[in-house]
Amino acid sequence: MYVGIGYDIHKFVKNRKLILGGICFDYPLGLLGHSDADVVLHAIGDAILGAASLGDIGELFPDTDSKWKDVSSHILLNKIMELIKERGLGINNVDVTFIAQEPKISKQKKEMSKRISEILEVEPERVNIKATTTEGLDSIGRSEAAAAQAVVTLIQTAEK
Ligand code: CDP
Ligand code: ZN
Repeated sequence: MYVGIGYDIHKFVKNRKLILGGICFDYPLGLLGHSDADVVLHAIGDAILGAASLGDIGELFPDTDSKWKDVSSHILLNKIMELIKERGLGINNVDVTFIAQEPKISKQKKEMSKRISEILEVEPERVNIKATTTEGLDSIGRSEAAAAQAVVTLIQTAEK
C-alpha cells in the first residue's frame, strides 16, 4: 500500500466556469488557472503522483506549455492513471477535503464522488468527499479562493 497527499488552491475570478471534481457548478465566479483550475482534481492528482513517487502535477503538465491551456483536468487525471497503471498500481481509496466559504457542495457531493470514481476506475464507495469553510476567516473565508486537500492510497494490482 502506498500513501500520497495533495493540496491545491486557486483564486476566484469572474467569467470562468466553476468546475469541481469534474462537475460544473452554477456559481457566479470560477477558478483561475492554466487548465480548468479544478482544485479538487488537482489535489487528487498530486496525491496519486505522491503515492507513486512520480513528482507533481506542475512538473508533468507545466503551465508554460500551451498544450494544457484550459484543458479539462480529467484529461490530466487520465494521463496520471496511465502512468500508475504502467507500474502495476491502482487506486485503493481517496479522501478529499474541499475548503471554501462558497459554494456549498453538499448536494453535489455524491455526483462528484461518482464522477471521480469513474475517472479513477474505482468503486464510488472508495471516494469520500468532505467540505469545510474557514468560518469567514482569511482569503478563503472572504470567498477569494477555494482549496482542496486529498489523501490517496494505491495498491499493487498487477506485476510490474
Ligand atoms: O467546522 P465545520 O467544517 O463542521 O463547519 P462548516 O465549515 O461551517 O461546514 C459545515 C458543513 O457544510 C460541512 O460539514 C460541509 O459538509 C458543508 N460544506 C459544504 O457543503 N460546502 C462548503 N464549501 C463548505 C462546507
Ligand atoms: Zn490547480
